[in-house]
Amino acid sequence: MLTVDSISKRFGGLTAVNSCSFTIEAQSITGLIGPNGAGKTTIFNVIAGAMKPDGGRIQFQGADITGRPAHKLFHLGIMRTFQIPQEFGAMSVLENLMLVPAEQAGENLFHALLSTKKVSLRDKEIRERAIDVLEFLRLTHVIDELAGNLSGGQKKLLELGRAMMADPDIVLLDEPGAGVNPTLLGDLAEMIERLNRERHYTFCIIEHNMDMIARLCDPVIVMVEGAVLMQGDMETVRADPRVLDAYLGGDVYVAPN
Ligand SMILES: Nc1ncnc2c1ncn2[C@@H]1O[C@H](COP(=O)(O)OP(=O)(O)O)[C@@H](O)[C@H]1O
Ligand SMILES: [Mg+2]
Repeated sequence: MLTVDSISKRFGGLTAVNSCSFTIEAQSITGLIGPNGAGKTTIFNVIAGAMKPDGGRIQFQGADITGRPAHKLFHLGIMRTFQIPQEFGAMSVLENLMLVPAEQAGENLFHALLSTKKVSLRDKEIRERAIDVLEFLRLTHVIDELAGNLSGGQKKLLELGRAMMADPDIVLLDEPGAGVNPTLLGDLAEMIERLNRERHYTFCIIEHNMDMIARLCDPVIVMVEGAVLMQGDMETVRADPRVLDAYLGGDVYVAPN
């Protein structure tokens, strides 16, 4: 269980997140929705250790993890993906995945501490994990392709793959469906479901595609102007007039049933 407790984050005079509180239950697929500028990505940045909050606390499985850097969160099993994929375009898909554990350990130190034999064993393990991840994501046919040459949707899968390399407990997905074609979107939703069911990943998903949220997420948390407006299952959220109001003037339409 991960708890966001009264988090605030300001950028100069702008309050992006305003005493925001919610809980991501273990084993859940929790949705985080809200109009553009609501503060969703900022909350992810705070949870994932990319930004320190101005106030409030983040707790994970009973421990205070507020402001802990990303490499420490990696070891706790907290991973995030980015709204805009962060692949290394000039490296192969396989190399992109194999980099993840090394990045976290600090590659030079990591290698200096191990004998050559251990390094090659560790490399073998990491390679095997990367291949397992690529098989799961059905990306083995592009294993040696430069990541920069992938389609937008494949780059999104690679983002998820980078998170999977950590064998995470909780994955924060920032708009995984953005720019992904409908077929691949269906595959992506199925992969998220399977990771949740079979590998017990907890997810928190920011997404504008309400069909995807409805299919995957319970509960759904609605953020508006830096705070939580309401939370419930998608039916309840859709039926709430305050949610429709919040989106009016925004670029997203929450279709009623
Ligand atoms: N690094 C930043 N510097 C300054 N302002 C930012 C920064 N990141 C986000 N903001 C502002 O904070 C508000 C919330 O942004 P964001 O968290 O990206 O919203 P969302 O992801 O819900 O669309 C917006 O007004 C945005 O312009
Ligand atoms: Mg965002």
